Amino acid sequence: MTTLAPIVLTSSSAAWPLRIDRESRETLSAQIQVRLRGAIRAGALRSGVKLPSTRSLAGQLGVSRPLVVEAYAQLAAEGYLELRRGACPVVAGFAAPPRQASRAPAEEETPIRFDLRPAIPDLGMFPRQAWLRAVRAALNGMTAEELGYGDRHGAVRLRNVIADYLGRTRGVLADPDLVVVTGGFAEGRALFCHALRARGIERLGVEDPSYSDWEGVDMAGLHRIPIAVDSAGIDIAAAETSAAQALFVTPAHQFPIGAVLGAERRSRLVSWLRDRDGFALEDDYDAEFRYDQSPVGALQGLAPDRIVYAGTVSKTLAPGLRLGWLVVPPDLADPVRAIQRRWNAGPPRIDQAALAAFMESGAYDRHLRRMRRVYRRRRDTLMALLADKLPEARFEGVAAGLHITLRLPDGADELGICTELRRRGVAVEGLSRYSIRPYGSAALLLGYGRASESGLRASVQALAEVVSSQGEQDRGTARTAPARRRAPPDQGRAPHADE
Ligand SMILES: Cc1ncc(COP(=O)(O)O)c(C=O)c1O
Repeated sequence: MTTLAPIVLTSSSAAWPLRIDRESRETLSAQIQVRLRGAIRAGALRSGVKLPSTRSLAGQLGVSRPLVVEAYAQLAAEGYLELRRGACPVVAGFAAPPRQASRAPAEEETPIRFDLRPAIPDLGMFPRQAWLRAVRAALNGMTAEELGYGDRHGAVRLRNVIADYLGRTRGVLADPDLVVVTGGFAEGRALFCHALRARGIERLGVEDPSYSDWEGVDMAGLHRIPIAVDSAGIDIAAAETSAAQALFVTPAHQFPIGAVLGAERRSRLVSWLRDRDGFALEDDYDAEFRYDQSPVGALQGLAPDRIVYAGTVSKTLAPGLRLGWLVVPPDLADPVRAIQRRWNAGPPRIDQAALAAFMESGAYDRHLRRMRRVYRRRRDTLMALLADKLPEARFEGVAAGLHITLRLPDGADELGICTELRRRGVAVEGLSRYSIRPYGSAALLLGYGRASESGLRASVQALAEVVSSQGEQDRGTARTAPARRRAPPDQGRAPHADE
């Protein structure tokens, strides 16, 4: 059998997985050359990056040193590496053909060194070995019949496991027959929207701010009605007086603010749905990561006849798996299934079987426990650093998820701060990116999912410097121009499809 060994190349400036296949017919030296050459050409290993010494790389890969010497020498002869006696090899670079100027210049110029964009999990901690075991177990256990189309709405075994898991961990009332396995939340949301249209519903209330990937909604021909969010979640009073017939909500951890939908609002929301004969989509995207309190139960448990529950493995495992699920009310089951049948034949069967095996074996629970500890540590580190470097900062949404919301001082230039940080190699997003209407106060969304402690330290240091230099500029402006013009509240917003 072929095995791939993920090896991490480490030096002071590089951490990059180098895989070799010991059973390939290609020599190990040739494989090392191909991987490194490819990474340099693709820009993954940039000019100036130091590679491990021949001794160190040979040790990491478990190969003999002359193989590495040969590989490095060949790459040096081709101009990809610079070799110096007694020093680690350095990537010399690669003169790539000029690119089309299609991306924003700032992104071209500064590579991201620290990625603090929200809601991104640590993909480097994907449980590769456990997943491989699950794939193997799944494939070994599958009958020839099960490699056919099977049930297009999800393998029965996986639907059972998901129903079990959701009942046990989220209080979801899930009849396995009403579970639909989807290509991530994105497909689930699109199915929901098209099913609403099939029922004659046209106006969808959406949280403002919210996850702003609206294509699935717009393509279904639904009209979006923004509904305000505050520290207790979606403003139900505003929903009640709106023309919305259905809702999108993130009750356990509002995206992006992080609020938990309060008990009173939950029951009002359910009454509202019943009064209007409407439906809500509950996006439970990161409920597994809750740190300070016991998990907040899913809204669906209060009204399984009105609420479509949506889950995904994009935060818990990896978005690349493209697996998620809906639990649909009986009244929406037929339209959802009919639409899914028209679109595709459901997610790949082997992946579904692997996820079922992964969950059944307890590996999913173990992985979640491990990641909860990791993320909690990172969150605590981030909060401690912010308290130290930006003592006046107020943050929200800290009890769960993979990011926190940092409120900026009054009048702060959110976009300016994001741009300056990006120029320094730190990627963060502002709240305005997710806001539909002009909003009141500036805020940054600081993701800690994939950040190392040193990355957080460097990022918060940069943030403190940028905020403080902006404050100084403002004070300078105030001295020369007493009536300082404040930036319009919606400055820097991402263009929105409603507009
Ligand atoms: C609020 C929210 N919901 C759901 C998702 C997951 O989407 P998918 O399962 O399609 O990857 C994301 C991903 O970023 C998200 O931020």
